[in-house]
Amino acid sequence: MMNIEAMNNQYSVENRIVFKEGEGGIPMARLTCPAGFAEVYLLGAHLTSWKPKDQKPVLWVSREAIFKEGKAIRGGIPVCWPWFGAHPTDKEKPAHGFARTSMWSVKSSGIDGTCTRLTLKLEPKEDMRSLFPHDFELEYEILLCERLKVRLTTRNMGSENFNISQALHSYFSVGDIDSVRLDGLEQIAYIDQLQPSTSPVQQGPVLFDREVDRIYQDTVGDLTLRDDCLSRKIHIHRSGSSSVVVWNPWVDKSTRMADFGDDEYTEMLCIESSNAGADRVELSPGQSHSLTTLYSVES
Ligand code: BG6
Repeated sequence: MMNIEAMNNQYSVENRIVFKEGEGGIPMARLTCPAGFAEVYLLGAHLTSWKPKDQKPVLWVSREAIFKEGKAIRGGIPVCWPWFGAHPTDKEKPAHGFARTSMWSVKSSGIDGTCTRLTLKLEPKEDMRSLFPHDFELEYEILLCERLKVRLTTRNMGSENFNISQALHSYFSVGDIDSVRLDGLEQIAYIDQLQPSTSPVQQGPVLFDREVDRIYQDTVGDLTLRDDCLSRKIHIHRSGSSSVVVWNPWVDKSTRMADFGDDEYTEMLCIESSNAGADRVELSPGQSHSLTTLYSVES
């Protein structure tokens, strides 16, 4: 991997992008634009911070998060790829794939209008073949302006079809989980990962008073996280995704996770643009797919 000085020589953009050593000595980039800033670790192409100007931070990171190669950072936007959750056939393989625990590299950087752009890539390595024996190209573009846009593109570089599931596992910071609501999933059928044998359909907005771990299916509409405590709404617009994962670990699961504070479930909520459940992506040779999400904040 390039060292930080070389990254700055090749990819820094004056007043917009600088590379530095982050927590645990891991390289990260700080992106700035007139409308705010964001931070992304090369470990996992992991956005850990987005703060639009005059707003509170949008992304949540646990105070117990571990910053170490081979570990996923708890919070921000982990990139779950090339599978979401447990591997479909081999439970020994790491949950949520290996993109979030691998070191990425920089592909390009620049300014697009008023936006700051950084594109990262995951270089296929020999040790990934035992997990995912396919030739691929994986690219993650981050575009920061008033809104934050992320685009994860998978290309099949091999000679056989392969399929993937994936998620942009965004952890949002909330004022108080008891008082937030998620609009946009009304009447949508979901897989309840806590009770997989049931076939529930969402009635009204999603409210939170217990552990929630759901994959909403066949849904492409926009979502709004309404947070009266923080006096803001977070809007989520997706493309290339017809499923949404909603997760909050609540009390018991929080205590079981080493990198998650016991009481932190009150201040976060995951809403994940995904291709999960029945929503898998099949790619033939040469074909590519982009999972894109646009986040915006309204006071
Ligand atoms: C969510 C899953 O997306 O991620 C949950 O639906 C899982 O089942 C959660 O517990 C966190 O996963 P991990 O691997 O980061 O602890």
